[in-house]
Amino acid sequence: MSAKLVMKQVSKTYGDGDSVMSVLRNLDLEVNEGEFVAVLGPSGSGKSTFLSAAGALLTPTSGEIFIDGESLTNKDKGELTELRLQKIGFMFQSAQLLPYLKVEEQLLYVAKLAKLNAKEAKQRSAEILKRLDIWERRNHYPEQLSGGEKQRVAIARAWMNKPAILFADEPTASLDFKRGKEVVRMIAEEVKSQGKAAVMVTHDERMLEWCDRVLHLENGLLVEG
Ligand SMILES: Nc1ncnc2c1ncn2[C@@H]1O[C@H](COP(=O)(O)OP(=O)(O)OP(=O)(O)O)[C@@H](O)[C@H]1O
Ligand SMILES: [Mg+2]
Repeated sequence: MSAKLVMKQVSKTYGDGDSVMSVLRNLDLEVNEGEFVAVLGPSGSGKSTFLSAAGALLTPTSGEIFIDGESLTNKDKGELTELRLQKIGFMFQSAQLLPYLKVEEQLLYVAKLAKLNAKEAKQRSAEILKRLDIWERRNHYPEQLSGGEKQRVAIARAWMNKPAILFADEPTASLDFKRGKEVVRMIAEEVKSQGKAAVMVTHDERMLEWCDRVLHLENGLLVEG
């Protein structure tokens, strides 16, 4: 079994001088193939910081991170972008859609960047948009969508490049229970059937039933339980 994510002694501090704030403190984590991990923690405990470091969006102050066997250390900006495109799906806490692209175009754009075959990309995007119940909105711009619809587009988009590992920052926060459940089930199914891995930050205890492990972020460390 090969680990999809390994974090070794990862630390992150913000600020400098008298105002140094230590958010992650020598954090260790291993997420294996086929595992869906949930991370809980109070607001401000560092969940988004942890997820951004794991997802190669933020360079930690110290420590080492491996994605699908590849170390992030010593990679330049271009190499990190390429690695994210090939291996990582990221669902942000806010949807972060491109304002000038319609819903379906958002997905096809990612597919193009990840160099997926155009016909396959079109099929895959239709499948995902239907599953998330936003197919009818495919020709809308983000500003024409509700908050929950935007969130579902962001979720759909994170699936497009067939990531080895998916990071989701409160993906169900702006969704009703039924739709939230569909999103989490979709993540769980993909992880199990395709041998992927996922890490999800959530406040919603009802979503934990689909996760294999529940971790709490406390004092800059992840603890089981
Ligand atoms: N770029 C930054 N510069 C300085 N401090 C930051 C920065 N980003 C986050 N912080 C601080 O680090 C701490 C952790 O922030 P983070 O966003 O990781 O928390 P969180 O657990 O995701 O919170 P929430 O549940 O509210 O989303 C907070 O105190 C925050 O103010
Ligand atoms: Mg956060």
